[in-house]
Amino acid sequence: MKWTAAKIKALKGERKIAMLTAYDALTASLVEDAGIPAVLVGDSLGMAVLGYETTLPVSMEEMLHHTAAVSRGITNALIIADMPFMSYQPSVALALENAGRFLKEARADAVKIEGGAFRAEMIESLVENGVPVLGHIGLTPQSVKEMGGYKVQGKTSEQARQLMDDAMAVEQAGAFALVLECVPAELGEMISNALAIPTIGIGAGAGCDGQVLVLTDLLGVSGKPAPKFVKKFATLHPLIAEALASYKTEVESGAFPSDEHQY
Ligand code: KIV
Repeated sequence: MKWTAAKIKALKGERKIAMLTAYDALTASLVEDAGIPAVLVGDSLGMAVLGYETTLPVSMEEMLHHTAAVSRGITNALIIADMPFMSYQPSVALALENAGRFLKEARADAVKIEGGAFRAEMIESLVENGVPVLGHIGLTPQSVKEMGGYKVQGKTSEQARQLMDDAMAVEQAGAFALVLECVPAELGEMISNALAIPTIGIGAGAGCDGQVLVLTDLLGVSGKPAPKFVKKFATLHPLIAEALASYKTEVESGAFPSDEHQY
């Protein structure tokens, strides 16, 4: 069964939603084979695999290239393309044009954009024109420079009220679900209870309707410290390092290839 935005939305109250990022056909097929219904081609791509320090340099062309690769690895999961910095902020018209490119050129099923009430008109227009939208509020990494770093959001009652208003506005505008990033667990639960659409938390507590993590964080691939909200379900970095070191040793000693691996 092909997952659609409407089907993901209908999971609210039925079961918790597991979402993960993927950046290419290989990782996408691993995620889908695990039965995960929604794959986000996050602009975390920039930091997770492209070597950028923030998500800001990620371009439309890079996102299209990786979203198309993810699409080739997916049969049924919902494919959500993250619209990169300045591919939608300047105008609704640009957002429509670039969202259209994700659906037409890269076979995405939906797009994600960052921002709350001030994005309502844009979300409404995308949805009216046939583009399902995943909202994203709380810590919005494309605003890292304005926020002054990657910090927990919504800690004061005024900020929490603003985030609640933002969540309501994103729902009202027609988003099928909402990512809540780095907010106190209590606020994550309050927003989740107030909305009819599912919330997908990342550092937003167990009260959310679903969770999303960056695949390379979950697998422990990088060896770098991860934020508090990351649970490493595997620690692959030392295993990969050991395998690569053994390869080097065996090539240099002549132990590889042995009879078994030659014709
Ligand atoms: O870019 C990304 O991967 C994201 C998620 C972590 C929500 O925005």
